[in-house]
Amino acid sequence: MKLVAFNGSPRGSNSNSNTILDWMMSGMPSSFEKYLLNQVKKQITYIDQVETASHLLFVFPLYADAMPGIVMNFFEILGQHKDKIKIKKLCLLFILDFQRVHTLIH
Ligand SMILES: Cc1cc2nc3c(=O)[nH]c(=O)nc-3n(C[C@H](O)[C@H](O)[C@H](O)COP(=O)(O)O)c2cc1C
Repeated sequence: MKLVAFNGSPRGSNSNSNTILDWMMSGMPSSFEKYLLNQVKKQITYIDQVETASHLLFVFPLYADAMPGIVMNFFEILGQHKDKIKIKKLCLLFILDFQRVHTLIH
């Protein structure tokens, strides 16, 4: 199993998404790779990681009732390379307001 996780918060490593993602992964038996989607110019290089992954996890906040633009941008890149990407196990986790994140951590 190769799990590749993406943090889709524009706030990157200082985000609630990052805290949740690290917390989730601390309970996983296998190792994982994590990438920040706010490094938009690097997104194209993540295709290689997606190609070889068996499981994908996206953690991102809800901004104005929608996914952040950096997440949409990456999904569009994935769509452009869909011929290379086999069907994966996929999990999307939406982070809402801070109070609910706080509750989830505890
Ligand atoms: C510009 C902006 C828009 C937001 N829109 C929503 C929203 O529509 N619904 C919601 O429940 N929370 C909304 N939030 C709250 C964020 O989802 C919440 O603060 C989240 O924990 C931020 O996660 P992050 O630190 O990973 O970016 C918004 C926050 C910002 C800054």
